[in-house]
Amino acid sequence: MAKPITQDEINRAAQLLRAGRLVAFPTETVYGLGANALDPDAVARIYAVKGRPPTSPLIVHVASAEMAKALVSAWPQAADLLTKRFWPGPLTLVLGKRPAIPDIVTAGLTTVGLRMPAHPVALALIRAAGVPLAAPSANRFTELSPTAADHVRRSLGDDVDLILDGGPCQVGIESTVVSVAGPQPVLFRPGGISRAELEALIGPVASAREVSEPEASGQDGPEVLGQEDPSGAPPSPGMHPRHYSPRTTLFLISDGNLPEQGKGVYLQQTRPASRKDIAIIQMPSDAAAYASQLYDRLHQADAANADWIAVDQPPATAEWEAVMDRLRRAATN
Ligand code: TXA
Ligand code: MG
Repeated sequence: MAKPITQDEINRAAQLLRAGRLVAFPTETVYGLGANALDPDAVARIYAVKGRPPTSPLIVHVASAEMAKALVSAWPQAADLLTKRFWPGPLTLVLGKRPAIPDIVTAGLTTVGLRMPAHPVALALIRAAGVPLAAPSANRFTELSPTAADHVRRSLGDDVDLILDGGPCQVGIESTVVSVAGPQPVLFRPGGISRAELEALIGPVASAREVSEPEASGQDGPEVLGQEDPSGAPPSPGMHPRHYSPRTTLFLISDGNLPEQGKGVYLQQTRPASRKDIAIIQMPSDAAAYASQLYDRLHQADAANADWIAVDQPPATAEWEAVMDRLRRAATN
């Protein structure tokens, strides 16, 4: 169990942030690697430490809707409805940005992703820093996202100035990213809030693959990676198909069809184990519980240095959309 974080530690972290340094902090989704979003040099450090391409925009974290409103060019009714219902929480809204947000934060886009996290440590940190925090997940680019302080330590080591340990993340997968910047809401990344929950409030939400890229502002626009995506989906900026991957080859399987050769780890959901020479990790049948454990179990499976990780394909229903998205990106097949 992590020790409770004191206000002194929060204040020290806030001081580091104001001085342009990097602080990893817990949120309810995954750990974030935070920097002062208004300081382009500090934000550049995030990209350097993560090894993240400059074409991939960062999410800006705020402690209130008022703080968000001060950063955007317009606050449409959909933003009002969604934030009143889902903030603080695992929802990132993409809105037109004000010039105060440096271009490096948004990878040159005219829009910015904003989120008010629900974790008390994250909120206390933003308030103490007194500035919005740009924060991607606190892992190196293409690695598994961190849902515990230990994951952050192992991935980033001394490259981060401070890690606030708030224990394991409850939601366990990244926030839902939805754009309400244009006439039609667009889902850029399924996540902690389901598409159905969004649609109940604001009506139909298009998938990023159904629309061309209205957010692009630069000459070249964001990196286009759809060619690599088996679904052929044109991507949200920065949504690399091979994101969230363990080092070990991962297969999504059905009907308990495990690879025949080699040493393996099996994230099993429904099928009874058919072999004795594999390590089995039992996964929950409930989608939210599954999501909260997914990255931690993948970190664990990866650490086993096996030849492969096999994961039972979850049900093809709406409530599994976010988990399926992460598994598809992690899988080789
Ligand atoms: O749950 C989360 O959102 C976590 C925690 C730390 O808050 N953060 C996170 O950040 O997952 P990151 O950088 O790993 O993912 C940010 C994603 C980008 O890859 C991109 O797809 C989307 O958010 N995004 C950010 N700004 C955007 C924009 N202006 N337009 C479209 N998508 C954007
Ligand atoms: Mg990430």
